[in-house]
Amino acid sequence: MSNNVTYENVNKIYGEGSKNPVHALKDVSFTINPGELFCLLGPSGCGKTTLLRSTAGLEEISSGKMYYGDVDISTIPPYKRNIGMVFQSFALYPHMSIFENVAYGLRVRKVPNDEVKKKVTQVMELVGLQEELKRNPSPTALSGGQQQRVAIARALVYDPDILLLDEPLANLDAKLRRYMRAEIRRIQKATNITTIFVTHDQEEAMAVGDRLAVLRKGIVEQIGTSDELYNEPKNAFVANFIGKMNFFESTVIDSSKDSIDVEIKGKGIRFAIPKAKCRTQAKKGDSVLIGGRPEQLIVSAAPLNKCIEGNVHIIQHLGSFIRYEVTIDSSISPVALEIDMDSLQKDIHEGDRVYVGFKEDKISLFSPEGREL
Ligand SMILES: Nc1ncnc2c1ncn2[C@@H]1O[C@H](COP(=O)(O)OP(=O)(O)O)[C@@H](O)[C@H]1O
Ligand SMILES: [Mg+2]
Repeated sequence: MSNNVTYENVNKIYGEGSKNPVHALKDVSFTINPGELFCLLGPSGCGKTTLLRSTAGLEEISSGKMYYGDVDISTIPPYKRNIGMVFQSFALYPHMSIFENVAYGLRVRKVPNDEVKKKVTQVMELVGLQEELKRNPSPTALSGGQQQRVAIARALVYDPDILLLDEPLANLDAKLRRYMRAEIRRIQKATNITTIFVTHDQEEAMAVGDRLAVLRKGIVEQIGTSDELYNEPKNAFVANFIGKMNFFESTVIDSSKDSIDVEIKGKGIRFAIPKAKCRTQAKKGDSVLIGGRPEQLIVSAAPLNKCIEGNVHIIQHLGSFIRYEVTIDSSISPVALEIDMDSLQKDIHEGDRVYVGFKEDKISLFSPEGREL
């Protein structure tokens, strides 16, 4: 049976007491459900690997508690935690056959030979390497994707309580990465082992995870499904990390009603944004950001009601939609916007002067804090 994993006020400080301590995890508290495929997402250096290694017991946490189910594992050594781990580098043994690579975790557990054979065969079937197992070469004779499958098989063979994957697809090329992320989801759902999948790639996290946690500088910014994070990002950082968000520097004119009235700085354009779409409790005079996703803006060759003038920089055909990169002047420096249209606008070309409008009922409001990635 799968277990949940709970973090309670987990802190990790590298070099505690030294001249340059690094506070890598700050009061991390959340629960991963039994059988869940949970993604840790965030930019490089935000603490993903630290949290994963702490979960495995490979790093000692500075304070807080971690539980598997009801069991406090904060101080239990790694070899007693029954964890399967997969790394970006695969970390396979080149001098051993793939059978022995996968069997390794069973050998150290002194599992009898016939049981080893049975388990390795089963798990290699699960990851789709039954044919390779018959030939049984060294992992060096396999492709990158096959090596990653061996690494996954090796982590699963002893029925771990938790499976931890640290950027497992980062070394694969783009097409294989897309294929393998679906494979990882299939394998995880087949085994139902509670799994933590670390990545800095938001598209990968959104595609793979049942739920995601977005980390920034050691802090969990938001947890939710892909859909929740995309449609209800709680701040400007999450909004721009989960998909693209265009921001417009604005000033609050009035916040006394059901909506907040804002004006885009230097443009004289005003919107009333319903408080349900405001991710900040701004008051009159505050600087805020109006946020519009690429599909929540419109580009037009003719002026629109409440629009901003700009220049088309690049037009990209991206299959089901067309992306217009438009540069507008702002009070500080030119801002590059991304606007996605369902179809090609025949009267708009690269270099043209255009007008950018808003789908008023879609745009939202953010605090400018933490906007930068
Ligand atoms: N062994 C270590 N000693 C000191 N600082 C570390 C160590 N490992 C990681 N860090 C620092 O902790 C922070 C988080 O690192 P890490 O967990 O590896 O981030 P991520 O996996 O999200 O890229 C970074 O600032 C990193 O430089
Ligand atoms: Mg890392």
